[in-house]
Amino acid sequence: MQKLAIVGGTSLRGEVQISGAKNAALPIMCASLLTAESLHLTNVPDLHDVATMRKLLQQMGMSAQITPGEVVFSGDRVDTLEAPYDMVKTMRAAILVLGPLVSRFGEAMVSLPGGCAIGSRPVDLHIKGLQAMGAEISIEHGYIHARAARLKGARIFFDIVSVTGTENLMMAAALADGVTVLENAAREPEVVDLADCLRAMGAKISGDGTDTITIAGVDRLHGASHRIMPDRIESGTFLVAAAAAGGEIVLRDCRADILETVLEKLGEAGARIVSEPGTIQIAMPHRPRSVNVRTAPHPAFPTDMQAQFMAMNCIAEGSAMVVETIFENRFMHVQELRRLGARIDVEGNTAVVHGVEKLEGASVMATDLRASACLVIAGLVAQGETVIDRIYHLDRGYSHIESKLSQLGANIRRLK
Ligand code: UD1
Repeated sequence: MQKLAIVGGTSLRGEVQISGAKNAALPIMCASLLTAESLHLTNVPDLHDVATMRKLLQQMGMSAQITPGEVVFSGDRVDTLEAPYDMVKTMRAAILVLGPLVSRFGEAMVSLPGGCAIGSRPVDLHIKGLQAMGAEISIEHGYIHARAARLKGARIFFDIVSVTGTENLMMAAALADGVTVLENAAREPEVVDLADCLRAMGAKISGDGTDTITIAGVDRLHGASHRIMPDRIESGTFLVAAAAAGGEIVLRDCRADILETVLEKLGEAGARIVSEPGTIQIAMPHRPRSVNVRTAPHPAFPTDMQAQFMAMNCIAEGSAMVVETIFENRFMHVQELRRLGARIDVEGNTAVVHGVEKLEGASVMATDLRASACLVIAGLVAQGETVIDRIYHLDRGYSHIESKLSQLGANIRRLK
């Protein structure tokens, strides 16, 4: 199993190129199932999850022409309407094929994802939404079996804001008969990027980016080209790394307008931030100050940045409260951070982090994607060597993280 070895204590300097967003690329790849024509995607990140999704779509009969950073999907020969357990268990986002398959082909068999490291993560809202649109759904041998002659537009209220739930139903509604209104919908920028791609394919969608999305179904969608938006979580991770390790870095090909809460918190921590179209520059000349964070759906503070801020708070001046309101078990990095000398108390969904002067390198284990990023940041600030095991989690969502960090001056290498 591959590991990362980091010798901490160096500040970060230089420029880093931000990749396309994983959480936009995955739903948009599934949108290619909605048409027989070609969907040309650019700024596609080089990630394990993207490769897994591509394999899944190819297993269904989609063709994929791949060049670096680009892929052209064609869906004129789809013959397998199934997402098997082996794929869904490694990548929950595979549930995103459900809506497009039922909508275009009238049937889908998608494995239930089951629990994952950060919580139980049910998909009941995806299922209820499709049922409201007239799909017949049964659970058979661990699979969701959905059937519908043609989905019908419906008014659907989400009890809980769900990002992939919103995306799945938005794609399903694009080819439904009549108008669908999604209420209490997710406002995440990735939902907007998917809506932009669907509109380029001929879908009639409005209200994305607000909590009410209206989709007027059309009879067919056509081919299109779409550039995947920049990854705001990758951007945020590099910014926090610089804030924790000190130094001055510039992110290229990113967007400040979708990172507002993160930038505000970094400002509170004492970082100097200058953003211009396409770039964000951060400088942290001194030890960061602790900052409280409370995760909630967009535009509030993202749960996918919680672990990274926890790592920064570990060596910050003062104490801070980190409250996780989205997932019930997203503090697994706490145990690992303690191995590096962090002082953290946890009570329910709240962690109180007491900043210490220094962390010390040790062997730690990555438990999920963003927890891995948190351990990388902790390794960058810890004295001596930190070895992170199980970095396959990291490779699911961060493109070439060790070479990007090396370019910024970090002492980091992959152990094969
Ligand atoms: C997406 C992101 C993930 C991010 C999360 C929250 C992708 C591929 N993944 O995950 O990186 O951490 O949003 O911003 O975009 N829930 C239900 N029933 C459902 C669906 C969700 O109870 O049917 C609950 C979940 O357990 C969780 C909350 O709703 O507590 C939010 O989850 P959701 O927004 O659906 O997360 P994902 O879309 O899986």
